[in-house]
Amino acid sequence: MSTLLLGVSGSIAAYRACDIARELIHAGHTVRVVMTRSATRLVSPDTFAALTGNPVVVDVFDEPEPGQIAHIRLAQEADLVLIAPATAHTIARLALGLADDMLTTIALATRAPILIAPAMNPAMWSHPATQAHVQSLRARGVVFIEPTYGVMACGDEGWGKIADTPVIVQAVQQRLQQAQDLKGVHVLITAGPTYEPIDPVRFIGNRSSGKMGYAIAEAALAHGAEVTLITGPTSLTPPAGAKVVRVQTAQQMFDAVQAAFDACDVFIAAAAVADYRPERPLPHKRKRNSQHWTLRLVANPDILGTVAQRKGNRIVVGFAAETDKALQHAQEKLKRKGLDLIAVNNVLEPGSGFEMDTNRLTLIYADGRIEPLPLMSKRECANRVIQAAREILARRS
Ligand SMILES: Cc1cc2nc3c(=O)[nH]c(=O)nc-3n(C[C@H](O)[C@H](O)[C@H](O)COP(=O)(O)O)c2cc1C
Repeated sequence: MSTLLLGVSGSIAAYRACDIARELIHAGHTVRVVMTRSATRLVSPDTFAALTGNPVVVDVFDEPEPGQIAHIRLAQEADLVLIAPATAHTIARLALGLADDMLTTIALATRAPILIAPAMNPAMWSHPATQAHVQSLRARGVVFIEPTYGVMACGDEGWGKIADTPVIVQAVQQRLQQAQDLKGVHVLITAGPTYEPIDPVRFIGNRSSGKMGYAIAEAALAHGAEVTLITGPTSLTPPAGAKVVRVQTAQQMFDAVQAAFDACDVFIAAAAVADYRPERPLPHKRKRNSQHWTLRLVANPDILGTVAQRKGNRIVVGFAAETDKALQHAQEKLKRKGLDLIAVNNVLEPGSGFEMDTNRLTLIYADGRIEPLPLMSKRECANRVIQAAREILARRS
């Protein structure tokens, strides 16, 4: 079973964490509790120590085992971090990346999934500051177990009560299971644009930001996959845990994919690869010396088409960014290249396509199934693509 780190912050609902700890232990997990200073004013650390059979830590300088740095060890040993209850203050500190106590320091140092069960007065929960922090944590992959509606300890009524214990325990179990379901599966992903040099200072590029491919890499990691991300030039930070190969041109991306393809189980081609490149890039910067300049372009290798030919048992997923007849073009691409799945979007649609944080994808499967998805964040789109690839894998094995 798993080692869970239960963070308890200074909410009146801190006593509920006793019940949550007990239920998680009952489900077979090892639970270690980390409390904020305020939480210790509401429930005694001794209560949690007795319930969990493990010492409770509060201060970063609590170093129970000599030679071990407690916050790093706890961060690394945790399979999952659950913060329940989470106060407005702790949510804000987590969103800002502060590390001013043991709980927030561990939250920064861990690579384990983080789940948060907020508990606060309705005015605090709906406050734009709190909601902005929640959004920013969600964008980084933190899962929120939504608070419920009810009457608070202070007498106010509204949204902000901590979720019920069974809901929290189920969310933990689901997230732990999800973290395992692509264990042992190697997912190879391409992301971003390619830059095709014209001369040493100019290139032909495109408007891909890389957000979709990076979100897919993050989603695959969250499902426990081993991830290789081959990325064109972007301003994004790759997700921790992915093996990253940086390239500039389509030819370099082709070579990198060819080299990594044999070792993968799933290949997801989310990069926007230039179809053509200048035939002869100039060795020096071209000066303005005439009214016209004709560039001769030659075709780049077809990455997806080439590797799909030797796909064997691998799942190969393509993307199609279209501006007209999106479905028809994507269906043709799926058939022509022998893909298992293609995710298509019309980049001219509002909210879809390059540089946006949202996308409206339609998934088309090799068996002809068409699954239109609503407009959703690229993170959610990424999850759906990973889920679809997982289903195809499961059906095959
Ligand atoms: C009795 C009591 C109950 C509280 N309950 C909550 C609560 O439910 N949610 C919340 O966000 N803050 C609550 N607070 C305020 C927090 O304890 C305060 O903002 C504190 O700075 C939180 O620190 P922490 O997040 O490090 O635990 C409560 C304070 C007191 C005295």
